[in-house]
Amino acid sequence: MKVFRIALALLSLSAAGLAHSEADPVKGQAIAGQVCVACHMADGNSVIPQNPKLAAQHAQYISTQLMAFKSGERKNAIMMGIAVGLSPEDMANLGAWFESQTSAPLGSKDKTLAEAGQKIYKGGKPGQGVPACAGCHSPSGAGIPAQYPRLAGQHPEYIVAQLKSFKAGERANGNAAQMMTIASRLSDQEMDALAQYLAGLH
Ligand code: HEC
Ligand code: HEC
Repeated sequence: MKVFRIALALLSLSAAGLAHSEADPVKGQAIAGQVCVACHMADGNSVIPQNPKLAAQHAQYISTQLMAFKSGERKNAIMMGIAVGLSPEDMANLGAWFESQTSAPLGSKDKTLAEAGQKIYKGGKPGQGVPACAGCHSPSGAGIPAQYPRLAGQHPEYIVAQLKSFKAGERANGNAAQMMTIASRLSDQEMDALAQYLAGLH
């Protein structure tokens, strides 16, 4: 299983590498400074908890999500309106720009909750069909390009909103199937705990 995952990761690394060499982060920076800045900040270190941090997120994950907003497969009124105006090249350039930025540390506000979250993140919920999050999103929360997004240092409010959206079946685009099953087996309190733990990773 592990070997299989590494092979997959290598395959997608070379695919991402191809896309990357054509993408121009400087062009992405220009759009970020004009359009995305209002909500995500120009370097992707959003300070508004409802708006996800994009700094250091994987380029291919960013462009895939932008495509999904544009096609309407991932539903969010704000981002659907933004993505409509972006070409595939813009999306690749934006991905390259934000991936090259450093994520500013956030820190968890509730240590007790964060400890409970750490248990699930590292060990899953044995016998209850919840695998360790670390198995896909990596022990550091950095994720694995291009399949598994970075979660480290993300706003807890955004993380909880996404887990609820997967659980409700509202976020069902792309590779969401695994997350829909996993989130359906998490309580509200467990989601809060996981989000507090993730906020402290960087
Ligand atoms: C008016 C505010 C606003 C602006 C401007 C905006 N965004 Fe967003 N963005 C959001 C919100 C809110 C979400 C969360 C959507 C959700 O809950 O699904 C989001 C989500 C995203 C996501 C998904 C992140 C993830 O982790 O899945 C990406 C990628 C993204 N935005 C990229 C951009 C880019 C690139 C721009 C500029 C071209 C931009 N956004 C401009 C508000 C904004
Ligand atoms: C089997 C692999 C796998 C496991 C285990 C897993 N995830 Fe995920 N996760 C994914 C994939 C794939 C995506 C991207 C889905 C997409 O493309 O929309 C994702 C996306 C997410 C997102 C959305 C990120 C964003 O920026 O919008 C959150 C939050 C998340 N996972 C949290 C968790 C938590 C918490 C756990 C453990 C309880 C977990 N995941 C376990 C595969 C996994």
